[in-house]
Amino acid sequence: MPFLQSLADLGPVVRMYLWRQPVYVLTSAQLVHRMLVRDSAKFEKGFVFDKARALLGNGLFTADAQTHLKHRRLVQPAFHRDRVAEYTELIIEQADDAVSSWSPGSLDARLRMGELSTDVVTTALFSTALTAEQKAIVVRALPAVLTGFIQRALYPHPVLEKVPLPTNRRFDAAVHDLRAVVDDIVARCAPEDSNVVSLLLAARDEHTGEGMDAVQVRDEVVSLLLAGAETSATTLTWLLYELARHPELQDEIRQEVASVTGGGSLQVDDVARLTRLGHALTETLRLHTPNWILMRRVIEPVEFDGTRLEPGAEILFSLSALHRDHAVFADPAKFDPDRWREGTVPRTSFMPFITGNRKCIGESFAWNEMVVIAASVVARWQLVLEPGCRVRENATSATVQAGGLKISVAPVAPVSVPRNISSVAPKCPMRTSDVDIQLQPTLVPGEGQGSR
Ligand code: HEM
Repeated sequence: MPFLQSLADLGPVVRMYLWRQPVYVLTSAQLVHRMLVRDSAKFEKGFVFDKARALLGNGLFTADAQTHLKHRRLVQPAFHRDRVAEYTELIIEQADDAVSSWSPGSLDARLRMGELSTDVVTTALFSTALTAEQKAIVVRALPAVLTGFIQRALYPHPVLEKVPLPTNRRFDAAVHDLRAVVDDIVARCAPEDSNVVSLLLAARDEHTGEGMDAVQVRDEVVSLLLAGAETSATTLTWLLYELARHPELQDEIRQEVASVTGGGSLQVDDVARLTRLGHALTETLRLHTPNWILMRRVIEPVEFDGTRLEPGAEILFSLSALHRDHAVFADPAKFDPDRWREGTVPRTSFMPFITGNRKCIGESFAWNEMVVIAASVVARWQLVLEPGCRVRENATSATVQAGGLKISVAPVAPVSVPRNISSVAPKCPMRTSDVDIQLQPTLVPGEGQGSR
C-alpha cells in the first residue's frame, strides 16, 4: 500500500511493468473519475477480468462491455429501493439470530462476518438457506477464488496454470465447489418464487425481448456472491477492529442504537437515523477500502494529462491510495469518523463503490447490511482487542484483509432509553444510490461537481 501511495509523487499517470507488460497507474482521482464516467465507453475491464471471465463466467462483475449493459438492465430491478427495504427486514432478523448466538471470549471476526454476509446475500437475493456445509464451502471458496484469479492473471506464462502447484489445486477446487453450491441454489429456485434467480429467469430485455439461459443465470449468481459477500465481510471486520480500538466511539454508537431503537429491535427506517455509525462506516470504507486495486483496458485512444494511451493499454488504479490523499484528507492515516460530520469531501475523491456505469449495483444493499450487522453487534457485545494484537494490512487477495486481528467479546447490559425518532431522518454521508443508477454507458449527469 505505501508503494501505491508513493506513485502519486511521480505524476498522475505512471508507467510500470508487470513482467514485460506495460501497465499505466492513474494516481489522480480526477482522472480516475473521468475514466469511469465521462470516458467510460473508451474502456473495458482489463486483463485480470479476462482471466476471471474464462474461469467464472460472464456475470455482471466480470462481464465484457457488450454483455454488461444488457445484463445490468435485467439485474437492476432486484436492487430497487423497495426490494432493498424488504431485504433489510430479513437481514435484521438474521443479524439478531447470528449475533445473539455468539459466546463471550475470543471472536473469529473474519469468519463470523464471512458467514453472516454469505447468509445475508443468499437468503435475501436467492431465498435460499444454505446448509451449514454449503456455507462453510462458500466462506472457504470465495477468498480462494478471489486470490486465485488475480494470481493466474499475473503468471508470466499461461502454461503455469496447468502445473499442479498447491495454489492452482486450491483454486480449481474452490471454483468447482462454488459452482456446485450455486447450481444447487439455481435448481432449488421455482419460477413462482420472488427472488433474484426467478427474476433473472423471467427477465426479458425491453429492447430485444431476449431472456437469460441457465448458464447466464448461474454466472450472475456467482458474480453476486463473489462481488457481494467478501467485500461486506471485509469491511465489517475492519469496522469491528476500529470499534474495538476506539472504546469511546463504540459506547457512543451503542447509545445511538439504544436511543434510535428504544432498546428494542431495529426497524428498516432506523438505518438512516444511525448517523454516528454511518460516519464510522464511511471512515472504514475510506481507510480500509476493500477493493484496493482495480483495472481497466483502453479500447479507444484516450489522453490523460498529456499521455496518449492506445487501445490495448492496461490501466490500474488504487482506491485505497486515492482515499489516503493528503491533499484531500487531513491526517489520512488516522481513523477519524468526525471528518464526515461536515460532508465536504468532493465526490471525485471518495468512491469506495466507484461511479459511472460499472458502479456497484449492491451499494444500498451493502450499506444497510453493514449498518444492521454492526448495530446488532454493539447492542449486545463489548468489543475488545486482545493483548498483543498487532493488525497489519494483508493485500494478497482482491480485498485487503486485517491480518493478525484478535478480538474478544463480552456481553453488555441492555441499554433501555425512550425511542427517539426525529421526524426527518438525517442522511448518512455515503448514500449515493438512493437514486437508481443511470444506465447510459457514458455520462452520469451531475457527477463530478458536487460535494457530499
Ligand atoms: C462494502 C461492500 C461493497 C463494496 C465496497 C463494493 C465495491 C464495488 C466496486 C468497487 C465495484 C466495481 C468493480 C469494478 O468495476 O472493477 C463493485 C461492483 C459490483 N458489486 Fe459491489 N461492493 C460491495 C458490496 C456489494 C454487494 C453486497 C453486492 C451484491 C449483493 C455487490 C455486487 C456488485 C456487482 C454485481 C458489481 C458489478 C457491477 C457492474 O459491473 O455493473 N457489491 N462493487
